Amino acid sequence: MNIKNAFYNLSLDQITGDCIEFGVFTGSSFKHAIRVDAKFNKKSKSLFYGLDSFEGFPDDSHPYFNQENFKSSYERAKKIEKKFSNARIIKGFFSDSLNNSEVKDIKKIKFAYIDCDLYTSAIEPIKFLENRLVIGSYLMIDDFVNIDRHGRSISELFYSTFNEKKMVFVSSFGVSGVIYRYVG
Ligand SMILES: C[S@@+](CC[C@H](N)C(=O)[O-])C[C@H]1O[C@@H](n2cnc3c(N)ncnc32)[C@H](O)[C@@H]1O
Repeated sequence: MNIKNAFYNLSLDQITGDCIEFGVFTGSSFKHAIRVDAKFNKKSKSLFYGLDSFEGFPDDSHPYFNQENFKSSYERAKKIEKKFSNARIIKGFFSDSLNNSEVKDIKKIKFAYIDCDLYTSAIEPIKFLENRLVIGSYLMIDDFVNIDRHGRSISELFYSTFNEKKMVFVSSFGVSGVIYRYVG
């Protein structure tokens, strides 16, 4: 519902730009976002970038979110591109994939979902988004207040990067997910 509501509002306000998900795993939220964008905005030209290592996490900084969990199949996720012509699946740890020339060239983002669980993994995505979110864009972050072994949470990165007055809290989801809207 949260993703659906975000795309409904994006369509009402005619906000344009691309979409990006950090942490695709099997692609369920990624495919859902593509479907609802197409449903509400038949003329949408947005590309959807899905980034994941497909090898789990880069470190063991969290006791639960670690290498044992969340390994998924790149080959399976790559098939999403066949189903949706506007989907791009990019394999690699964010430290590499955010240097991919196609990704680096993204100028305007209307919807971003950070679902990579770790503080350490969210550092580069948040830096990447800082100057790319357009006015009216949505930023969804899961595991916002989870604390890693070193006492760090993704919320710290968010508050140290974005001006709170320009990021309006929209809603929460799941156990510790939040949705903000950038109002410029
Ligand atoms: C919770 S899952 C994503 C779930 C997915 N959004 C969904 O709703 O189906 C987290 C994913 O983040 C990926 N991930 C975590 N840290 C990463 C990093 N630094 N670089 C690339 N992928 C990372 C993991 O491989 C894992 O697939």
